[in-house]
Amino acid sequence: MIPKFHDARDVFFERRFGLFIHWGLYAIPAWHEQILWRGKMKRKEYEQLIHQFNPTKFDPDAWLDLVEEAGMQYVCFTTKHHDGFCMWDTAHTEYNIMNTPYGKDILGMLAEACHRRNVPLSLYYSCPDWHHPNYPNQGRHHEMFGPRSGDDPDIEKYYDFVKKQLEELLTKYGSIYQLFWDVNVAEYYDPSINEWIRTLQPGILINDRGPGKGDYNTPERHVPEGGSFSKPTEACQSLGRESWGFREDEDYYSHKFIMQSVDKILAMGGNYLLNVGPKSDGAITEENVEALRKIGTWYKSVQEAFIGTVPASDMGGHDEIVMAGSQRKVERDHVLLTRKGNTIYVHLYRDTQSTSVVLKPLDILPIRAVLLNNGQELPCSVDLLPWYWRERPYLRIRQLPVNELTDTVMVIKLEFDEEVCD
Ligand code: GLC
Repeated sequence: MIPKFHDARDVFFERRFGLFIHWGLYAIPAWHEQILWRGKMKRKEYEQLIHQFNPTKFDPDAWLDLVEEAGMQYVCFTTKHHDGFCMWDTAHTEYNIMNTPYGKDILGMLAEACHRRNVPLSLYYSCPDWHHPNYPNQGRHHEMFGPRSGDDPDIEKYYDFVKKQLEELLTKYGSIYQLFWDVNVAEYYDPSINEWIRTLQPGILINDRGPGKGDYNTPERHVPEGGSFSKPTEACQSLGRESWGFREDEDYYSHKFIMQSVDKILAMGGNYLLNVGPKSDGAITEENVEALRKIGTWYKSVQEAFIGTVPASDMGGHDEIVMAGSQRKVERDHVLLTRKGNTIYVHLYRDTQSTSVVLKPLDILPIRAVLLNNGQELPCSVDLLPWYWRERPYLRIRQLPVNELTDTVMVIKLEFDEEVCD
């Protein structure tokens, strides 16, 4: 069982799918958000991009329309990435959006739209800073190779600056849902910072990448093994394989790969933050719009299998989901289960090889089996199969449209009689 917080933070378990947005000066070279580090671009040259950034097509409502179309329930926005450039009107560095030709507070505009449309807003904030004179760049991972002349590397002073910035972010932009710290390279540990953040935004959720322990884990770009998470988890993944920020020649994941990954993480009880990198003019690319719409249509058709359910792949693992006295795990590895009351949802998050799925060791017929993707009712039987001739009959769901629904993840709803669920 994933432990709950037993306070306002429990909304975390209801908001399961969010949009991550990586946007900053790095959208201009359009290579990767860490072009300074991974692409070895010169800092002097990069910092000149401030004179070019002019996203005339930025329209927060267009972004939020997509959030709605994708069935997403929150947005997480990069306020300051490792490059140190700030996407809001900050008083604590000149290196910010107000000093671009655009000259408008992007975060303010996004926050206004989010609050008006009741979309919870989360803020990403990078611990490393490749611009600020007090950040001790020492050539560790996600860092510049050393201080510049005139820099004054001092982690205490740097975190004073961080706190001043957070005070702006957490007092000037209304209610903030989560703080997404990123990569605490310097391993600066001061749990009082997270506690102080909670005084500014009661109920805020804080992730595990900052100067304190945080509330939830953030696995990135990989799908972990197992049937269930043991801690609150928000996985993140980008639509593009190579970058989080806009990349001109991006290698996009297939829609199906993303659906499989979303399904697996959500069926394990985690949340999913799916990323796009808008272009430097503020528009989200056609490829990304199409992907979000497709994934959203799928997500909306199967979301009842996530919202308000618990992971149930290990059928023997939790007292409250023991069915018909069975204490064994559902064995087939291409299947995950979630459960709400007497309803079990079967997630076929890997390609199915044939038209049936056998849910060994379950051996009870459901009242009804419905394929959520299209509402089709599926026949079921509990019969002895030649494959399992040495064992016993198991529940088999039949006639899956494997040759028709090839570009999606199928989720089946099984409704059982009350008495089979102890
Ligand atoms: C990694 C990347 C960073 C990205 C983040 C998103 O830490 O280094 O660029 O913003 O993942 O989770």
